[in-house]
Amino acid sequence: MELMEAIFGRRSVRDYLPDAVPQEAINRLVDAAIHAPNAINQQPWSFAVVQERSLLDQISRDAKAHLLSIRSTAPMPAHLYERLADPDFHIFYHAPTLIVISAIAQGPWIVEDCALAAENLMLAAHGAGFGSCWIGLAQAWFGTPKGKETIGVPEPHVPVAPIIVGRPRTPAPAVPRKTPEVRWIS
Ligand SMILES: Cc1cc2nc3c(=O)[nH]c(=O)nc-3n(C[C@H](O)[C@H](O)[C@H](O)COP(=O)(O)O)c2cc1C
Repeated sequence: MELMEAIFGRRSVRDYLPDAVPQEAINRLVDAAIHAPNAINQQPWSFAVVQERSLLDQISRDAKAHLLSIRSTAPMPAHLYERLADPDFHIFYHAPTLIVISAIAQGPWIVEDCALAAENLMLAAHGAGFGSCWIGLAQAWFGTPKGKETIGVPEPHVPVAPIIVGRPRTPAPAVPRKTPEVRWIS
């Protein structure tokens, strides 16, 4: 796929077929991710792949409960809490695969590095015919001791980017962009 076609065609997908994502395809996505630019070439990332449906369901429940429990300390927009309180809302949209990119080094740019790896991974997924979506709603729970233990991230390291991947069941609509503010400084 041509680069600009990939950039303009990628969508956050929230409706998936149950088909498993093959291991070779995941390896290819990780390979694309690690070719992201990264500060001082530290390559601080690690990748946890979760495909067991019952574990994904459990993490979804735990992440929702966790966000509701910390509502007073880390407020989000009100409509998100309505969704979190809905027992039928699955934060991973029943996607067959979750890849969590974590920073396993220390330094001032580790989060940026992992975010760039995440964008590479999502673009590569789109290029290979998969859908993807960064699930920020899972981040707080993955940052807890239980969350880190579940994906094998030792303290003091940080999970950064939980990304679901799978074959889209339906095409995701394009989300309009605001006109960017661009200041030409002279
Ligand atoms: C840091 C981050 C966190 C996000 N968290 C969620 C999330 O928890 N659930 C969700 O459905 N989408 C999530 N998204 C996807 C955004 O809603 C989406 O990127 C945005 O609406 C633009 O749509 P597009 O990706 O299709 O262009 C997240 C995206 C980013 C970058």
